[in-house]
This record gives sequence, structure tokens and C-alpha cells, in this order.
Amino acid sequence: MHNLLRYAIVILLIVTILKSFIGWFSKKEYTAGDNKFSLFLFISAHLQLVIGLVLYFISDIVAAYSNLGMAEIMKDAVARFWVVEHMTSMILGIIIITLGRIMAKKATTDNAKFRRQAIYFTLAMVIIFSAIPWPEPMKAAGIARPWF
Ligand code: HEM
Repeated sequence: MHNLLRYAIVILLIVTILKSFIGWFSKKEYTAGDNKFSLFLFISAHLQLVIGLVLYFISDIVAAYSNLGMAEIMKDAVARFWVVEHMTSMILGIIIITLGRIMAKKATTDNAKFRRQAIYFTLAMVIIFSAIPWPEPMKAAGIARPWF
């Protein structure tokens, strides 16, 4: 589920960001449909957070480093990725998605709604994409996981 839900988040991020930039620069009206895209992104990201938190405590990958101390984990790039970096980057990305949705809701003009979504969601996308254990190019770093 965690592997597959990644694609919902990746697709929703790309589509919502593209729509936000187009809406921002073409001065379009912010519709109920635009709000739905942002809502689905918010829901999938929070669901992924819950699944990720459960995985963190039951994952064999994380458990493999349970005998190491924090100093040793921080020295080993693969251990550091699974124990610290993946979780912290993703939580940060999800917080930024949440803030982006709140800020867009609070904005009083349609243009400001699109602008805030575009900025926050792009920042979240950069952080989230960089912390996904893609089969390529993460292979060289030893943290690749399957596409599906
Ligand atoms: C947008 C948010 C996230 C995305 C896109 C994402 C994506 C992924 C992907 C693609 C994998 C590889 C799955 C596989 O083995 O096939 C993975 C693994 C993992 N993720 Fe996340 N993740 C996210 C958030 C989180 C969070 C917030 C946590 C922890 C709090 C977490 C904990 C884990 C753990 C423990 C694994 C290893 C699972 C295993 O044993 O196979 N993830 N993640």
C-alpha cells in the first residue's frame, strides 16, 4: 500500500502544481474542482503518513538497524536514510502540503489561492521526490526499492 500510494501522491502533486501555475499566470477562477485536487492530495499524503508511521515500527528494513546506536546510524548513509532521512523529509513534505492547503483556503482572491498552492506544493514536491527510494538512481546509493 505504501509503495502504491506513492503514485497517487506523485500524480496529484504534479497535476495540482501544473493547474496552480496555469491558474496563477492565466488568472483563472479557482473552482470546486481545484479544491478537490488539493483535498485529495492532502488526504493521500496524510494516509501515507499513517501507513509510514506503522511501517516504521514493523519494517524489517528499519529493524535491521535496531542494534546500532544513533552515532553509528548517522555515519552509515543507508541506515541514516531508513531510520532518519526518509521519515523526517516526508513528514516535512506533508506539513508543507498541509500548510499550502490552509494558506490557499485563507487567501481572499483566486489568484492568491493558486499562487500559494503553486509555491507550497512545489516545495513539498522537491522534498518528497528527493526522499522516495526510487529504483533508479537510488540504486547506486543502496537504498533502491522496487517500482511496484
Ligand atoms: C509522501 C510521503 C511518503 C512517500 C511518497 C513514501 C514512499 C515510500 C516508498 C516508495 C517506499 C518503498 C516501499 C517498498 O519497499 O516497496 C517507502 C518505504 C518506507 N517508508 Fe515511506 N513514504 C512516505 C512517508 C513515510 C513516512 C512519513 C514514514 C514514517 C513515519 C515512512 C516510513 C517508511 C518505512 C519504514 C519504509 C520501509 C518499508 C519496508 O519495510 O519495506 N514513509 N516509502
